[in-house]
Amino acid sequence: MSFNNLDQLYRSVIMDHYKNPRNKGVIADGTMTIDMNNPTCGDRIRLTLNMEGDTIQDAKFEGEGCSISMSSASMMTQAIKGHTIEEALHMSSEFSRMMLGEDYNIDEDMGDIEALSGVAKFPARIKCATLAWKALEKGTQEEE
Ligand code: FES
Repeated sequence: MSFNNLDQLYRSVIMDHYKNPRNKGVIADGTMTIDMNNPTCGDRIRLTLNMEGDTIQDAKFEGEGCSISMSSASMMTQAIKGHTIEEALHMSSEFSRMMLGEDYNIDEDMGDIEALSGVAKFPARIKCATLAWKALEKGTQEEE
């Protein structure tokens, strides 16, 4: 597949998550609620998690933001569900590496996340893509 076709595919995956977000909403009896905003634009996300021991049994998000931030949140909730906090934080660090243009390791479990790899070329948008992951890190680090 040529780079252009891959770009197009990634763009359509991002728009699909933006228009049909997965795991949108709030878990009414969630065990963890984390609010995070992007100070540069004011966009915000609320992430709710339902933990069973160390495992993220369910994850939902709501918020207002650009297509990159909202699609990233949708992809992230899909990726982390059913994983332990440690595994989710590992995904988060691989995602950060991808955003920095470094070598990264994203396995199939992590779903569509790789569609955001092109954001690395647009430093101003990196905060958009990492908003949901920062919320996850904030919540799970406070938990410790
Ligand atoms: Fe605000 Fe993207 S422009 S999160």
